[in-house]
Amino acid sequence: MSRNWWQERVIYQIYPRSFCDSNNDGIGDLRGIINKIDYLKDLGIGAVWLNPIYESPNDDMGYDISDYEKIMSEFGSMEDFDELLEKLHQKDIKLIMDLVVNHTSDEHKWFIESSKGKNNKYSDYYIWRDEPNNWASFFVPSAWSYSQEREQWYLHLFSKKQPDLNWDNNEVRQDIYDMINRWLDKGVDGFRMDVINLISKAEGLPNGIGEGFVFSPEYFAMQPKLHDYLKQMRQSCFVGRDCMCVGETPFTNVDNAPSLVNDGKELDMIFQFDLLDIDSNGDKWHVKPFDVKEFKSILSKWQNTLKWNSLFLSNHDQPRSVSRFGNTSTKEYRIRSAKMIAVAVHLLRGTSFIFQGEELAMANVPFTEINELRDIESINFYNNAKDKKWAFESILKKGRDNARTPMQWDSSLFAGFSKTTPWICINPDYVDFNAEKQKYDEKSVLNFYKKLIKIKSTNEIIIEGTFKQVMKESDKIFAYDRIFRNKKIRIICNMSDEKVIIEKQDLNNILLCNIDNPNLYYLLPYEVRVLN
Ligand code: NOJ
Repeated sequence: MSRNWWQERVIYQIYPRSFCDSNNDGIGDLRGIINKIDYLKDLGIGAVWLNPIYESPNDDMGYDISDYEKIMSEFGSMEDFDELLEKLHQKDIKLIMDLVVNHTSDEHKWFIESSKGKNNKYSDYYIWRDEPNNWASFFVPSAWSYSQEREQWYLHLFSKKQPDLNWDNNEVRQDIYDMINRWLDKGVDGFRMDVINLISKAEGLPNGIGEGFVFSPEYFAMQPKLHDYLKQMRQSCFVGRDCMCVGETPFTNVDNAPSLVNDGKELDMIFQFDLLDIDSNGDKWHVKPFDVKEFKSILSKWQNTLKWNSLFLSNHDQPRSVSRFGNTSTKEYRIRSAKMIAVAVHLLRGTSFIFQGEELAMANVPFTEINELRDIESINFYNNAKDKKWAFESILKKGRDNARTPMQWDSSLFAGFSKTTPWICINPDYVDFNAEKQKYDEKSVLNFYKKLIKIKSTNEIIIEGTFKQVMKESDKIFAYDRIFRNKKIRIICNMSDEKVIIEKQDLNNILLCNIDNPNLYYLLPYEVRVLN
């Protein structure tokens, strides 16, 4: 295949608020990221995806944008941004921005004008109705709020401070394309597109079927006109530019996802959430243990469906992967299982996205009370829940703040993230799990990730090879071959806490493993081998 840069570079996701605080106000910032470029280079990643850094009242931590062309003052200035972009490019690291265009903040000037009445340039920029329908939102019971000023209801699939844009309006689309083009002209290398498959809503906004407020993705996700809008956006912004677009697309499945990517006219890749929904029983807060066979079957199914996948274990909306798919009951298991799950997912065919701290085996946070949380989703869920004890336990397992605590740089006070109390607590395990300590430990998760990233971005069998699952029947082992031009790499992961007997193996060609002396006949709990 002729390769695009994003098919041979590992992408590192930075949550700027929690990465590095250069001015010691307790909030991470752009200069903090500049200060850590050498760390990124040393890790071996080839691109960075930044969560939103635009001006925002932070109702949903930057996913409520009030000005697409200004930098949030807590994060720095446009000059800082320009310097960051230039310095990343000098080190041959690409930069992907977050694009949040399903909705804006209610403090965006378009919404402020739109609220004023039915006859101005922006009146039709949002979705206004005299009567709301029964849709539920992601964050609050109803997806509609009333504007006293305009005397109408507006739709918001997320918080009431995140009104949905009206993509059926040509001028909205044109304004968005112009904004995208200005960022591309600045030199950014692509976008991660927030809930991009929700931008088009069903004609007439039909009521969902059920009592009370009904969560109705059948009417707000993957609607027919979505494809027209994505094609138009690609034509208007991306054709002829060497950039990458990955769409965040919840509610996609193997039947509808190919239409978004396989012909190359809409998106380059999608984030689908089958794997990360694996431990949800109904909704995300009803947690069930995950099943290894299901884990295997989800990954294999997607490998066999899309020509190119995105590969990720976590992000800023998810709990920490080692707490979820690994075993954190002992330090030894935490380290070993973090390495194993990394190989299981990142050596599949597709682009790997590593969420900050994953390379250190950062784990879920032992929050003790609700006022330690900062995330609107968890706080609203807790406030609306009848059973507070159960709600808090679910938040400990699934809450988004697990992923949002500061990066653990060293064992000094505030983990080397800041010199002052940060905006959200630091995981107390930072003394043991931090970048500085792991840097000098040959067997650390960090040094393992460096090797893994190198293989992922340079080995042609891993980049180009096909995928074939082996040992399908096992409920403990996930194993697969990657094959390219008659050469093969076999990946074998013991996902269980038991020793597992295997067929005798040739151990002469171990490319990567996570224990000291691999045995010919069995795998230790959470052992992984990559065999050439
Ligand atoms: C998905 C983002 O990843 C999440 O953080 C945000 O709350 C919603 N979209 C709304 O923008």
